[in-house]
Amino acid sequence: MNSTKGTKVVLVGTGAVGSSYAYALMNQGICDELVLVDLNQEKAKGDVMDLDHGLVYAPSAMNIKSGSYKDCSDAAIVVICAGAAQKPGETRLDLVKKNMNIFEAIVGSIMKAGFNGIFLVATNPVDILAYATWKFSGLPKEKVIGSGTILDSARFRSLLGQEFNTAPTSIHAYIIGEHGDSQLPVWSSANFSGLPIAPKLTEARKKEIAVSVRDAAYQIIESKGATYYGIAMGLARITKAILKNENVVLPVGSLLEGEYGHSNVYIGTPTVINRTGAKSIVELTLNESETEQFARSVHTLQDIQAQFWE
Ligand code: 2OP
Repeated sequence: MNSTKGTKVVLVGTGAVGSSYAYALMNQGICDELVLVDLNQEKAKGDVMDLDHGLVYAPSAMNIKSGSYKDCSDAAIVVICAGAAQKPGETRLDLVKKNMNIFEAIVGSIMKAGFNGIFLVATNPVDILAYATWKFSGLPKEKVIGSGTILDSARFRSLLGQEFNTAPTSIHAYIIGEHGDSQLPVWSSANFSGLPIAPKLTEARKKEIAVSVRDAAYQIIESKGATYYGIAMGLARITKAILKNENVVLPVGSLLEGEYGHSNVYIGTPTVINRTGAKSIVELTLNESETEQFARSVHTLQDIQAQFWE
């Protein structure tokens, strides 16, 4: 029953984010077995057929099928992308009530199936729903990971890469905090090749970049209704780090227990990811302003949590 051996992934929710994630897994040959679960079973079946045809040209074989929560019993990872998505003008936090009820039902059904692997949560507001998954599942914190600021950090690195005409993979920089409006860039440690980035930019330019990162989702949602490729690649990266026991540091949503002086909140922070899940948090050294902004982000999330938990 315990599952941390195989590479079976169950994806719950095959909307735009879920199906893009499935496509990324297939393209990169990340797992051996992928089960798609959706309330709309026809949609899941259609996705399986479509992906199967793509598999002919994929780097490795993969057993892809549609299924039910029962398939979670021996899964290594369950990825949740199900729930209502942001409409133009809505914030991620506006979604909380709609998606909390959905999560209680989904996580309950998955645990009833005997799941003992790692949850990866992507549905917004992701920090609150990662916390909810941890609460509803009763699993140890290492086994519940939110996508956190993986996408925001990618947006940050992408913009900085353009700014300095440098590959984003050579830019080492994090967005931490809420995956949402109270997030912050950690300029104090942003670097390429060890060279600090902050002194190369004016305060005004730094502000512009931070705002572009923070508001990127709004811009994409205005343009095409939803965001999905970026987050799908981020989720695939986390999945690979788990299944290949990489011990790589990724900015994901992890439960703080005293790190940065805060506790009892899921929030985006660099975290070591391996086969056990979120192995440990890498606590960045923040300057005074970053410390203050991070505290504000923590309190934003804790105020929402307090509506559901004492
Ligand atoms: C994003 O940041 C909407 O959370 C989603 O793209």
